[in-house]
Amino acid sequence: MKILSIESSCDESGLAVIEDGREIIFNSLASQADIHARFGGIVPEIASRQHLLTFPKLLKDYIENSAPHNNIDAISVTYGPGLAGSLLVGVNFAKALSLAWDLPVIGVHHLEGHIYANWIRDGQWDGEIRGDPVLPAVALVVSGGHTDLVFIETHDRYKIIGQTRDDAAGEAFDKVARILGLRYPGGPEIERLATQADKPVVFPKPAIKKSWDFSFSGIKTAVLRFVQKAEKQAPLDDMLKINIAAGFQQVSVDTLAERLVEAARVFGAKSVILSGGVAANQALRSKVLELSDLPLWCPKPSLCTDNAAMIGARARFLWDVGVRHGMDMDAVPNLRMPYDIGAE
Ligand code: KG4
Ligand code: ZN
Repeated sequence: MKILSIESSCDESGLAVIEDGREIIFNSLASQADIHARFGGIVPEIASRQHLLTFPKLLKDYIENSAPHNNIDAISVTYGPGLAGSLLVGVNFAKALSLAWDLPVIGVHHLEGHIYANWIRDGQWDGEIRGDPVLPAVALVVSGGHTDLVFIETHDRYKIIGQTRDDAAGEAFDKVARILGLRYPGGPEIERLATQADKPVVFPKPAIKKSWDFSFSGIKTAVLRFVQKAEKQAPLDDMLKINIAAGFQQVSVDTLAERLVEAARVFGAKSVILSGGVAANQALRSKVLELSDLPLWCPKPSLCTDNAAMIGARARFLWDVGVRHGMDMDAVPNLRMPYDIGAE
């Protein structure tokens, strides 16, 4: 079964065709990162206009360079969470294709998509091609907008066991990068600097007891205070910036990895899953591998960050459990995970 999938929740326009939720037939992505970098973050109005200009080009490219579209079985699209204007462009594009080609359309939750990047047989972070993640699993979804710890029992039965109480992990990387005068997106920049550190600055770990929740604003404020104090003496030199970046990365990665591994133990998971843009961070993967005996699934970096392939992967399993959306599907900027059995 082939699903054409569309991703437009933030600043990446993605169009992919995925077979059986696992094989990539076609995968294109147009990043707007350079456009938004000038502003130090995403400008929603510019993001939605860029999607509008980009999707026809991606579709033309698919039609001209790949097998004809008449062997596509369904359309899938991210319908939330994300930026309203950006989501609207993708949802409308998907509906138009569904009408034109007379195909069913499946709306996908963006974060479920991130998790299902691990079902794609395109090489994991270590280049290995693995089978499906072993369930039950505990997944950590760490992106620019979310930090969610999810216990997955089956494809349609899971619950969120922890979330961030303030900033998302990726958001903290982006904000700290901004404090240090680095470009957007900040995660890759911080990781690049951290590898050159000789004496990482030690920042305190956030303390949230009796809960699986996360908090990152305290770490971010600690970095800001440290920088403001240091700048009273002299402008930050390059080595101090590197050591601040490394210290921030270390405390963030340790916090994320420790919670993930502990949750997997308590919930009796058979595997641990990393996903979302911050999962591209090598220090995070290394820390999880160091702390856990369970097998780790984590996509290769290009499938950790936003892409349409992961949306097609998740859509395949939603199809199996009967999920279909009609022409009344709307963009839902604050969409919750629908199978949150914890809310029962
Ligand atoms: O999943 P994603 O591409 O988009 C959202 O759905 O938000 O995640 C983007 C986030 C950004 O905050 C970016 O700074 C972060 O992922 N990120 C990283 C790395 N690569 C991207 N954070 C840490 N280390 C990285 N290597
Ligand atoms: Zn994302």
